[in-house]
Amino acid sequence: MKIENIKVCAFDAYGTCFDINSAAQKLSSEIGEDWLSFSSTWRTVQLEYTWLRSLMKKYVDFWKITEDSLDFAMNVHKIDIKFKNQLLNLYKKLNAYPELSNCLKYLRDKKIKTCILSNGSPALLNQLVDHAKVKNLFDDILSVDEIKVYKPDPKVYEMVTKRYKCIPDEVCFMSSNTWDVVGGGVYGFNTCWVDRFEKEFDKLDYQPNKIIKDLSELSKLF
Ligand code: 2OP
Repeated sequence: MKIENIKVCAFDAYGTCFDINSAAQKLSSEIGEDWLSFSSTWRTVQLEYTWLRSLMKKYVDFWKITEDSLDFAMNVHKIDIKFKNQLLNLYKKLNAYPELSNCLKYLRDKKIKTCILSNGSPALLNQLVDHAKVKNLFDDILSVDEIKVYKPDPKVYEMVTKRYKCIPDEVCFMSSNTWDVVGGGVYGFNTCWVDRFEKEFDKLDYQPNKIIKDLSELSKLF
């Protein structure tokens, strides 16, 4: 069954629109066969640092957290520090998933507003959409940097209803990160889990309204 009365489709950025492993993958010959495990450590620690800093009320922007978590992951996986800057530069230009632009065009044709809702800093998100040539397909880019607290704080999801002067039930929130889907759903959004990685959904007393394997299945929703 389709989701009705949606005014806005809000997209998580990292892992949903952009491939977070594409930075390490591009250096896989230098990093070695451990590159995916290293990339997973980098991502996991990056997210942990966002949650910890929100709880401690010690906000720094996502770029600082990305650098700090990279340092941690490089130490754990004994990756030569000479690759740090290359990895950071590649992180600014992560690959967009191939189906993203058609998905956004589909929503535009349906007169549904589209925005990014992300922990990423404004500069990082603008670089990502510029590099992927999808900037013109998003109506807005909403960054938590405006409110200095990370997902899944409800104030993050409230940025969408404030920006579009709508109620949560008029928003469909798309994320590949299950904890983020829960955050949006608990706030009141309709949610779609983009289950790219065939993971287990978190046990947090919430189930997504819809599950798709990638954004090419978006037409099943609207
Ligand atoms: C985001 O883009 C970190 O994937 C998360 O907000």
